[in-house]
Amino acid sequence: MDLETMTAQLERLRADALVAVEGAADAAALEQVHVSFLGRKGAITEILRGIAGLDAADRPRIGAVANDVRGAVEAAAVVRDEALRAAELESRLAAETVDVTTPGRRVARGSRHPIAETVAAIDEVFGRFGFVVHEGPEIEDDVTNFQMLNIPADHPARDLWATLYVDIDDHLLRTHTSPGQIRVMRETRPPIRALLPGRCFRYEAVDASHAFEFFQVEGLMVDEGTSLADLRGLLDEFAHALFGAARATRFRPGYYPFTEPSVAFDVECVVCDGGGCPACGRTGWMTILGAGMVHPVVLRYGGIDPERYQGFAFGMGVERIAMLRHGVHDLRLFMENDLRFLEQFR
Ligand code: DAH
Repeated sequence: MDLETMTAQLERLRADALVAVEGAADAAALEQVHVSFLGRKGAITEILRGIAGLDAADRPRIGAVANDVRGAVEAAAVVRDEALRAAELESRLAAETVDVTTPGRRVARGSRHPIAETVAAIDEVFGRFGFVVHEGPEIEDDVTNFQMLNIPADHPARDLWATLYVDIDDHLLRTHTSPGQIRVMRETRPPIRALLPGRCFRYEAVDASHAFEFFQVEGLMVDEGTSLADLRGLLDEFAHALFGAARATRFRPGYYPFTEPSVAFDVECVVCDGGGCPACGRTGWMTILGAGMVHPVVLRYGGIDPERYQGFAFGMGVERIAMLRHGVHDLRLFMENDLRFLEQFR
């Protein structure tokens, strides 16, 4: 091969290589182009092999052309490589773009369950009068749940509490919070002002006003000279705080084995304000709790001398109070925990 032919071939390769470099779509393709023109077995290298066949005087000249072509292709490859990197970065940035002006996702905020909130409201009112919260066990013994509350075995009054028994000697799920009275009397000394909120259990068919699991708040006051009038005054304050200051109240005779006398405490119907409606059985009154003067037998079981001390007690169903406060007509709603229901109490 002579100088002219070789030079012409190199120039054609330069043109081909520059087109190929420009057309490389990504880094891998560019590398491929580099290898095929400039690599050890590349087209340009291949041509330079023939340099040995040239006259000695021509060799430096073809060497200069070859270097120039190689340099031009290398330089074009560097430029192309930078362009490809820049384009790749550009598209990655575009894909990862975060729009900082997009509104955030709202985090759902929880709120207090209406039953817990009602217990807190009850605690708060009695707390103003010095009542301190105590808690007794949910699994009770028969003696404390019944016998010490003046309800001996086989006493017909046991029918008031359909009991769920636990498979342990004489234990049961407490049917009311009243056994807490015995525990407080045994653990503390008068004057006593105790509030006992807690979960209770009964073997009941479930309907809009009955559950087999529900909450009560029990109250107990024991001191010298405690009277039914004190009880009435306290309960009036409570009723006015929860249901409105203008609401009339009344005591009706009632029966509980652990109080004597026993009363039912009524407030003017919160639905019809006393006019009479289906919610109050057209009486204009709603019973919100049971109460009475602690029976001397119960005081004695509590280790308290009934000759010196008197006490009153009361007990209320929290679901019932919550229903009246919020106009809820089915107590099952409190157990279902449907967020659409609960969200209304925020
Ligand atoms: N323990 C009663 C019940 O579950 C409620 C009650 C009535 C509690 C009168 C009392 C009370 O402390 O004096 O139905």
